[in-house]
Amino acid sequence: FDAVELIRLKRDGGRLPEAGIDWLIDAYTHGSVTDEQMAAMAMAIFFRGLNPDELSRWTNAMIASGERMSFARLSRPTVDKHSTGGVGDKITLPLAPLVAACGAAVPQLSGRGLGHTGGTLDKLEAIPGWRAALSNDEMLAQLEDVGAVICAAGSGLAPADKKLYALRDVTGTVESIPMISASIMSKKIAEGTASLVLDVKTGAGAFMKRREDSQALARTMVEIGKAAGVRTVALITAMDTPLGRTAGNGLEVAESVEILAGGGPSDVRELTLALATEMLACAGIDADPAQVLDSGKAMDTWKAMIRAQGGDPDAPLPVARHTEVIPAAADGYLTRLDAMAVGLAAWRLGAGRAKQGDPVQAAAGVTWHASVGDRVSAGQPLFTLHTDTPERLERAVQAIADAAEISAEPVARGDIVLERIS
Ligand code: URA
Repeated sequence: FDAVELIRLKRDGGRLPEAGIDWLIDAYTHGSVTDEQMAAMAMAIFFRGLNPDELSRWTNAMIASGERMSFARLSRPTVDKHSTGGVGDKITLPLAPLVAACGAAVPQLSGRGLGHTGGTLDKLEAIPGWRAALSNDEMLAQLEDVGAVICAAGSGLAPADKKLYALRDVTGTVESIPMISASIMSKKIAEGTASLVLDVKTGAGAFMKRREDSQALARTMVEIGKAAGVRTVALITAMDTPLGRTAGNGLEVAESVEILAGGGPSDVRELTLALATEMLACAGIDADPAQVLDSGKAMDTWKAMIRAQGGDPDAPLPVARHTEVIPAAADGYLTRLDAMAVGLAAWRLGAGRAKQGDPVQAAAGVTWHASVGDRVSAGQPLFTLHTDTPERLERAVQAIADAAEISAEPVARGDIVLERIS
């Protein structure tokens, strides 16, 4: 095959031949198709799409670029969750130990954050001693003993995606439903989970702002999963308002621990239980996750999971050196809290990174003291900004200035789970 011929074919709306897709992904992974050529192909796919057969072949070629793990020897059924990312989305932290405490094995291969939504590994690294890197053998042993692992995806899984995702990130070609679907699903299928629950976010703070795009993404990923023999279900969930009361690494760990203790913000608890219910159904486990959460068993599993990776679950979390409180400007009801603005403020305070490899602050972030629908009084604290570097405060204050809307009339907070796609 010739890369330029394949690019022209897709550019003009043609269908890529199956063997051509295999060749392209392999040649790109090994460097004989260049970044410039793959960037042109990504842009052609951005505009022309991939039909279901092309997409299935593309996903399989990305899986074949690396190793495939197997959990077949475990005594517990495996089930994984993937979220497309949202502000304050710390659900993996309480969810993985909860579902493990119900009897499943939960292999959460996670990433670091880039942009306004945090990464699960960045959050857990706020815990003193905790390490993200595990060998495959360590991961398997922990899955059998504890039931839950949250760790860094090894470089051996879908290396074609690693290269292609980084290229898409700098060429304006991330927002393509077939390429996002192939990227996410190739990693999950290569990981070897038997079941997968997808949390596809929709709304102002999500990657997909429009409901119909979120539905299309969810349907596409569910189809790819099923075709590969992975039981796959998606929930479409609201991401206009940030989840819980905190955005920031250590702050989100603390909130997750509240959930594991049976308390915490009601929206975080609700979404954790909704996803746990789906995961347990996929895994064929008959358990009541609310009862397991309230019994303290999920907390025990959390502590065992943190300890198994070198962390001290009882150590105090880092506290930011500087805080600034922003009071409510008026009396009334909180009627809107903009997820994007809150995420941007947390990012500017040091919770997120501007480019891959930058450090993040464990204690930086935003706490909001009211949820949508709550009554607030003028002068009462509405936000607390946390950072170790006070020079960041000014731009964070700007980011959050218009995040909240206070009105005389109350509004009901909308549903979190909007739709289920299977
Ligand atoms: N997350 C991924 O892993 N890949 C994408 O393409 C987009 C989001």
